[in-house]
Amino acid sequence: MEALFQPLTIRGTRLANRVVMAPMSRYQCPGGVPSAEVAAYYRRRAAAGVGLIITEGVGIDHPQAVDHPGVPRLHGEAALAGWRIVVDGVHAAGGAIWAQLWHQGPMWNVEYAGDTSGTHRLALRPSGIWGPADGIISIPHEARSRAATPTRPMTDGEIQDVIDAYARSALQARELGFDGIAVHGAHGYLIDSFLWRYTNRRLDRWGGDAGRRAAFGAAVIRAIRAAVGTEVPIALRLSQFKMQDYTARIADTPDELAALLAPLAEAGVDVFDGSQRFFDSPLFAGSILNLAGWCRTLTGRLAMTVGGVGFGKGRGLAKHIDDSQAVDDNLPLVIERFGRGEFDLVGVGRALLNDPEWLLKARAGQPFKPFDPENLKRLT
Ligand SMILES: Cc1cc2nc3c(=O)[nH]c(=O)nc-3n(C[C@H](O)[C@H](O)[C@H](O)COP(=O)(O)O)c2cc1C
Repeated sequence: MEALFQPLTIRGTRLANRVVMAPMSRYQCPGGVPSAEVAAYYRRRAAAGVGLIITEGVGIDHPQAVDHPGVPRLHGEAALAGWRIVVDGVHAAGGAIWAQLWHQGPMWNVEYAGDTSGTHRLALRPSGIWGPADGIISIPHEARSRAATPTRPMTDGEIQDVIDAYARSALQARELGFDGIAVHGAHGYLIDSFLWRYTNRRLDRWGGDAGRRAAFGAAVIRAIRAAVGTEVPIALRLSQFKMQDYTARIADTPDELAALLAPLAEAGVDVFDGSQRFFDSPLFAGSILNLAGWCRTLTGRLAMTVGGVGFGKGRGLAKHIDDSQAVDDNLPLVIERFGRGEFDLVGVGRALLNDPEWLLKARAGQPFKPFDPENLKRLT
């Protein structure tokens, strides 16, 4: 366990240990503004020793970035004032906090149940395609059928506008005092929909083989790097699975993944965050390495693993997940694999929602709070 308590310096940020609160949307920022309650929620985890907090997805400064009114934004005076209190609170408690920048792309106004007016047709998609008609998903059937209607592919101008919006919001985050930028490039949202060959059929410079499908993500990272300078760490979250299809993949082989990662690493990613449901699921046959492990091996950059740490069962996640083999008491395995150098950081999601003092208790060998599904909804 003590191995996880080694500090780590990434560019200008020092993390006290290797345990990261994973980004988790709470939808409790009315009007996009984080309240005092939200600040207390993050501060509590920092005070309980979590080395790095990655915020819930925060809407970048673009009209089609995020739909739900309870998702926090990174623009507008009230939202910025709210974030300043969050950041100062985490720092006062001795923690570090990175903002997760989010653009929902094809998922905009699809899942958000309030919308039946057809505005999802304005959602940004690389090739106008939302996803396969028969993917395994957990969003309601009618929402999927609405989304399935093809839309107009993004124009070059729209692509550039989004890149500029990422850069603006990253600069804003730096000015607010965030210690780093975490870019959401996973789960079928905008950046991922460029990486995924199913949704990216473009024949211009934004599409083609794996390297070309990474061009948009790389342009976003370059723009953020130019905006925030060399002292601010940048993480990029990637995943095989998508909200549009849990069985989807962005890379079928290590070579394809290497081609996808190279332009992203080159553009300035410091940490690859490999999002999986279960950290111990191998990414490719023939190796136990997971997505984080492969990212680290193929790029030499830092990597963060996540998925079922301390909370192996699929509680509160999509219903179809087969967690029959999963165990909650998996910290010894996490530590063993960390010790082998497979990853540098360990993301913890639901376990930290259920019990803010999860890390202190794990270190001291004390029992955790019993699981209560309400804790996944409350800002406690
Ligand atoms: C309530 C909830 C909200 C989430 N919201 C986000 C999000 O905003 N951005 C993101 O990248 N992942 C999000 N995730 C995924 C988590 O970051 C994490 O990868 C996932 O929960 C697996 O980790 P765990 O098993 O430790 O919970 C969310 C997960 C949960 C449970």
